[in-house]
Amino acid sequence: MSMRRRTVVLISGRGSNMTALIAAASNPDYPAEIVGVISDRANAAGLGIAAARGIATKVISRADYSSKEAHDGAIDAALVSFGAEIVALAGYMRILGARFVEKWLGRMINIHPALLPAFKGLDTHARALRAGIRIHGCTVHFVTLDMDDGPIIAQAAVPVMVGDNEDTLAARVLKAEHRLYPLALGLVAEGKARMEGGRTVLAHFADDADNSTSVVMAPDPLREETDLEHLARITP
Ligand code: GRF
Repeated sequence: MSMRRRTVVLISGRGSNMTALIAAASNPDYPAEIVGVISDRANAAGLGIAAARGIATKVISRADYSSKEAHDGAIDAALVSFGAEIVALAGYMRILGARFVEKWLGRMINIHPALLPAFKGLDTHARALRAGIRIHGCTVHFVTLDMDDGPIIAQAAVPVMVGDNEDTLAARVLKAEHRLYPLALGLVAEGKARMEGGRTVLAHFADDADNSTSVVMAPDPLREETDLEHLARITP
């Protein structure tokens, strides 16, 4: 029997992170397999991409249910029928209710396009530019009751460049997201990142003495070859 953890991805739109997870899981050595994709929007572009890769898809629209709880219940039932062990939110634009979140606590993860706890919520790139930050990025975290607030599993940082606008910055972060999410899902699927007592517990990387697969993807200020002056110069 396969030891790969059965993972269902929830989307609402484009599905580029979903596509990155499917690509990673197409390697039989990857510790998770994507067994289904659920969208709350029938016109989500990601649905076609998943179907083209042979992944089962399901549309569960809020409009078809009388209440938020009934909608959550239908998603939960679909997850159970997929035999889901892990739920990966990837651009899923609806807030899940307390009962649902509690049921999947420690088994549901999300990707957010900012370095949490900064810039929770929407329009992260515009807000990052307005704030004048020089390092931006993305975060994968366990989903808890408060939005974008759960324990952090992994982060990737990117510089904010002189002349960036919302689109150029979003594109740079998105590239990092596509590397980070497969790494983070892999850690959760392997049990190397677990949620315990409201915190993320990371396994000791015994086979990673030089920390080369660090869960922080960023310029490492402790390595001498990192040119901090250069980094300071390319940021506004
Ligand atoms: C990503 O930026 C993700 O971080 C955020 O929503 C966006 C979804 O994009 N939660 P995609 O559907 O994965 O292309």
